[in-house]
Amino acid sequence: MMGLHMENDGIEMFSNHINDPTLMKGGNYIKEGCDSAKSTCLIFSPHTKDEVGALERYLKIFSENGVNLIYIESRPSSRYPSQYEFMVECAPTGDLGNAILALKEQTEYFSVISRNYKDNSETVPWFPRRIRDLDRFANQILSYGSELDADHPGFTDEKYRQRRKYFADIAYNYKHGQPLPHVDYTPEEINTWGIVFRKLTELYPTHACKEHNHVFPLLMENCGFREDNIPQLEDISNFLKDCTGFTLRPVAGLLSSRDFLAGLAFRVFHSTQYIRHPSRPLYTPEPDICHELLGHVPLFADPEFAQFSQEIGLASLGAPDDFIEKLATCFWFTVEFGLCSQDGNLKAYGAGLLSSYGELQYALSGEPELRPFDPSKTALQKYPITTYQPIYYVAESFNDAKDRMIKYAQTIPRGFGVRYNAYTQSIDVLDSKEQVLSLVRNVNQEVEILMDALRKL
Ligand SMILES: [Fe+2]
Repeated sequence: MMGLHMENDGIEMFSNHINDPTLMKGGNYIKEGCDSAKSTCLIFSPHTKDEVGALERYLKIFSENGVNLIYIESRPSSRYPSQYEFMVECAPTGDLGNAILALKEQTEYFSVISRNYKDNSETVPWFPRRIRDLDRFANQILSYGSELDADHPGFTDEKYRQRRKYFADIAYNYKHGQPLPHVDYTPEEINTWGIVFRKLTELYPTHACKEHNHVFPLLMENCGFREDNIPQLEDISNFLKDCTGFTLRPVAGLLSSRDFLAGLAFRVFHSTQYIRHPSRPLYTPEPDICHELLGHVPLFADPEFAQFSQEIGLASLGAPDDFIEKLATCFWFTVEFGLCSQDGNLKAYGAGLLSSYGELQYALSGEPELRPFDPSKTALQKYPITTYQPIYYVAESFNDAKDRMIKYAQTIPRGFGVRYNAYTQSIDVLDSKEQVLSLVRNVNQEVEILMDALRKL
């Protein structure tokens, strides 16, 4: 997802929400500013000697303060061995501030994760901790897929709008762990796909980066990438999972930058499933399946690119709003519009370029300005949303871009570290010494295994 195209005087342009650019921030095709999540998550551990019956006592604090709880979870603490950790999700009712004060006095460890509880400087913006938490994004979309702007090519086409609603409903009802719904595309939709597929694949051998060209034939073999077939998200998701652990989720509409980037932390990419309007096959005012499948998907099969994308996602978790915008800008100039230098030649790896016949040629024409990718500078770069980009950022390699992102992420003011735990598909929030020391021991063991293997070679 991310990235919109529009056509003007016969040329394609990459744009965003052209009617109201003030609404668009950071990662563009993504709107900011109207978070709908109203709940607050509290995570806490009781004092050591205080375990038995502790939860009941804590629950009393919530009821005394009129705070309704949506969800309660208890787990062994990863911070304090032999202790428990509770996570409760509070509805926006009652006197939460008072409940928090009372809890703090009675707990060994306490942290608040919330989008809305801003009067507490210790509050961390809400972020998903487990992969199934991404289910909550379906209810937090900022516009539903069937709501088209007046200048959308399908605006007056009732049949197309019905079809868009069908796709939006699929995504809205999707839950983590389910197979991605199979869609029977119509001959008209397949025809539109075929036009885009034919035009773009003409350019890939000369314009796309080698990673894209390396994976593309595999997608043709394994996932039904053909001119006369729109591939199914489920097949692609399974293929990506085998390559890099990336998976796809259908998305019903626009997500906030914060939510979209958080998905990447879990190697989850929110993908549209509908296709652009048939009247203008080389134009779309929003991401569609051509953009996702031809632009994004091949790169997510590359291990270094996958890791780079995940680093942006991890950096975003619990980051302040201004950093979310900076990270979304980095995403824009890399995953959407990135160029890289390969064997002395300039190549495209950004999905916005790889899915736009016009801009892909323009970006490599020598006309636009090129700058080296450096997150601290790139993050501040303003960019137009209704024209081709005047500036592109060139990555030395995905590995180099990843190292730079990791360093940049360290400048984000955040009182904890984060690490993705692939075994539990959850985020470890690193905010205690014991926890970090235990991880260091694990890493040391891994290094020993690797050194042993190296000696045998
Ligand atoms: Fe995109």
